[in-house]
This record gives sequence, structure tokens and C-alpha cells, in this order.
Amino acid sequence: MYYIGIDLGTSSVKLLLMDELGAIHQQVTREYPLEFPHPGWSQQAPEDWKDAVLSGLQELTANCDKRQIAGIGTGGQMHGLVVLDRDDNVIRPAILWNDGRTAAQVDYLNDVIGKQKLSAWTANIAFAGFTAPKILWMRENEPENFARIAKIMLPKDYVNYVLTGVHCCDYSDASGMLLLDVAHKRWSKEMLDLCGITEAQMPALYESYETVGTLRPEIAQLLGFPENVKVCAGAGDNAAAAVGTGVVGDGGCNISLGTSGTVFISSKQFGVDPNNALHAFAHADGGYHLMGCMLSAASCNKWLMDDILRTKDYAGEQAPITDEKLGTNHVYFLPYLMGERSPINDTNARGTFIGMSMDTSRADMTQAVLEGVAFAIRDSVEVAKSLGIPLTSSMLCGGGAKSPLWRRILANVLNMPLTIPASEQGPGMGGAMLAMVACGAYGSVAEACAKLVTVSETVAPDPEIAARYEARYRQFRLIYPALKGLYPQLL
Ligand code: XUL
Repeated sequence: MYYIGIDLGTSSVKLLLMDELGAIHQQVTREYPLEFPHPGWSQQAPEDWKDAVLSGLQELTANCDKRQIAGIGTGGQMHGLVVLDRDDNVIRPAILWNDGRTAAQVDYLNDVIGKQKLSAWTANIAFAGFTAPKILWMRENEPENFARIAKIMLPKDYVNYVLTGVHCCDYSDASGMLLLDVAHKRWSKEMLDLCGITEAQMPALYESYETVGTLRPEIAQLLGFPENVKVCAGAGDNAAAAVGTGVVGDGGCNISLGTSGTVFISSKQFGVDPNNALHAFAHADGGYHLMGCMLSAASCNKWLMDDILRTKDYAGEQAPITDEKLGTNHVYFLPYLMGERSPINDTNARGTFIGMSMDTSRADMTQAVLEGVAFAIRDSVEVAKSLGIPLTSSMLCGGGAKSPLWRRILANVLNMPLTIPASEQGPGMGGAMLAMVACGAYGSVAEACAKLVTVSETVAPDPEIAARYEARYRQFRLIYPALKGLYPQLL
């Protein structure tokens, strides 16, 4: 049988067609635009996701026996606010996970309502990208739009809704709304009341590997799929990527170098970071995880290459950065191009180069960007270690992980071995695996991981390079506190 995994990302949707033994038969990518209508704002049209997914599914399955298609599972960009009116029309563009417009609402939630209450109700505090502050923003800034809301959903749930007509969400993605009581896996009445919304506007909750429905007849007809194709609830992209890299159960770690950069630590038991620097969310395997998320990771390098240096030759730009250069760079880069979430939670922070001199080269600045992202990932790893979590190795996935240099920099900055999965399709593969569990091909997510996830190589740190980076990381740690008070004055 065939299973379709959908990775609904920020710049594109990636679809893959897989069989239950893990062989990938076809892959398709469709890009869509991202709007930045003001500095720090980030929006996307849900209708673009719909068009991209439906045309992508058609291309993906053009040459296969469609009668063999059994299930579909999606891993989607998290936190985005999608609102529909009572006729199912999208009310406004979705406000995405990396949007920073809600600074005032975040301050209200964290300082007036109070972090202690938020954490008791939802296991988390407010961050600008989370969904609840965006609902408050809409209520204050777009009251006519707010009054029209019949349904609230997250990006991948909109895709599931298009496919099945069912208004659903899974626990991993719902955790990032600041509306879910994560410990008890139910909507928080306190938070819904505070946002002026009701449970009737919220989606029904499912485990990621549960079936939410089958295809709407008109969608089945459009795609030429059997009507009994099952759609599972799917997961937030990080939880789906963790499934795709086999990070389930207790104590596994997956680092993703995608548009965002995340450190994802799985556990069977629910647990909260007492300082809420790491998010405490449900996992797609039925358990939980802690996660640090930086807003701009591979996107920093993409920005430097595409927009500043105007080159597509990423490997060529990295070629002069040889081993003896690692840990010797005097240039530092703070990767806060969209403000920052974990662990500093500062919407005003901005990307910053510092330490240049007349002999600074183009390659030094490229290296500083790759290193700055690695240092910022280490910030979240340090928080996890301070909680007593013994992190000694990790899986590594995401577009940035394709660069052998960036892998090596990260392994040395973290001073831990990083293992690369054989399939680089993290969230898409995880989505397909969740669909396999929903369809009964595997008895559990853990069983699917044990059978399907294989690794390609492990990048080990080099003691000399790691020691040099240890000193550089200590210097990096001095820069943001010195500039923190300055950023708001530069807005
Ligand atoms: C996680 C987060 C990002 C997005 C990226 O909290 O905001 O990783 O899910 O798609």
C-alpha cells in the first residue's frame, strides 16, 4: 500500500509517496509566497496551501496505482492562526509562527495575567509566535474580523479540513497555541475565556496517529483517489520530524536546522521547564517533549546567500572555510533576523554582525552566520542540560543539515556526535509514518520508527576544534546581554 506524507513548511510544501517498508516512490515540492507586510510580521494565504497541496497530490500520484493509496498524514508549520467564517471562507491571511506583531499581547499575558498562571493552565508562557496572543491581537486590532470567526485552526489542520471536512487538531500542534492544558490534553477553559472564544470554535482533539476521517467525495474525485483513503490527525512539524528521525519514547533528541532551528527532547512523562525557556508540548507518539525553538536558522544562511551575496552557490561560498578556520573566527553573528524565541524571548532583538576588521573576508562573514546559528542552538541545549537532561548525542535533520560544513560546526559547537538519518524527509516521512499507524500497518509510532528509520552517518566532534569553539561560545554569550537594551531603541 502507499502512504502520503505532507510537510507543510513556511516556504514550500513537500509531499512524498511511501510504502509501508519505507521506500520513497515519488516526491514533489510546491513553493508559495510569504508576506512580510511590516518588519517582524509574517503572513501566508491558506488558499495557497490548499492549491499547492491539491496540485502537488495530483503530480505525486500521477503515475502510481491510486487504488493502493491507503492514508495521508501531515506535519505542519506550527502556531499559525487560521480563521474561517461560518461559510468556511478564510477571513484573513494566516499569521505565522515567526510573526512578531504581538509584543503588547505577550507582555499582557506574561506580566498582567502572569507567567505562573499561564504555566499552570497550559504548561507554557506566552511567546510572540504562539496562537493565543495572535487571537488577542485580532480582537484588539481587527474587531470586525474577530467577530466573524466561526473556526480557529492551525495550518496543517486547514489542510486536513480541506481534505476531509473535519475540524480537528492533534495534541502536539495544539500544545503550541497556548490554549491547551498540555498535562491533561484538553482545551484550557481559562485561556479560551481570556481570549474571548469558545470551545465550539476550537477543533476536536486527537492523537497524531488517529484517523480523523476519510476524503471528501469531491476531493477523492478530483484526485482520483479511493474515497476510503484515511487522513490521520498529523502533527506539528517538529513532532513529525522527530518521528521521521526515530526520536520517540524517552530521552531522544532531534535538532532541526530548517527555516527555524529546534532542539526537541522526547519523554514519556509530562514535564515542564520551571523557567519556561523550553516549551513543554505533547509528542506525536502519545508522550511529551521539551523544545527550544530559534526563529531563524537555515533562513539566516539563505538570507545571506540569496538576498545579500546574491548567489546560489552555497557550497562554493563555504569551500574556503576549512578545518583550521573553525573556532578562530573573530566575527560573530546574532541570528535574530525575526526577533528570537528560545531561550531569550525577545521580539525586538535583530540580526547583528560584530567584530569585523579590515581583514574580514566574505567567507568570515558566511562562517559567522553558520556559527551564530550553531551558538544559538547551543543556548537551548544549555537550558536542557541545566534541567539535568543528559544530552550526549542527537539526530540532526532539516535543510541546513545538508551542508557537511554546517554539520561539522554544529557537532563541535555542541561537542556532541550528531547522527544524520538516511532519509532527509523529517516531517514528511513522519507524516507518512503516522498515517501508517492510523491505517494499522504498524501497531504504534515506536514500532514504525523501529522498522523504518535508518541512519546514514554520525558526525563526531574533534577535541581540538570543540575546545576552540568552547572559548568562542563564551564570547558569543557576552554579546546579546550587552545589546539587549539597545534593540528597542533602534525600532
Ligand atoms: C516551533 C516553531 C517552528 C515552526 C516551523 O515552535 O515555531 O519550528 O513549527 O515550521
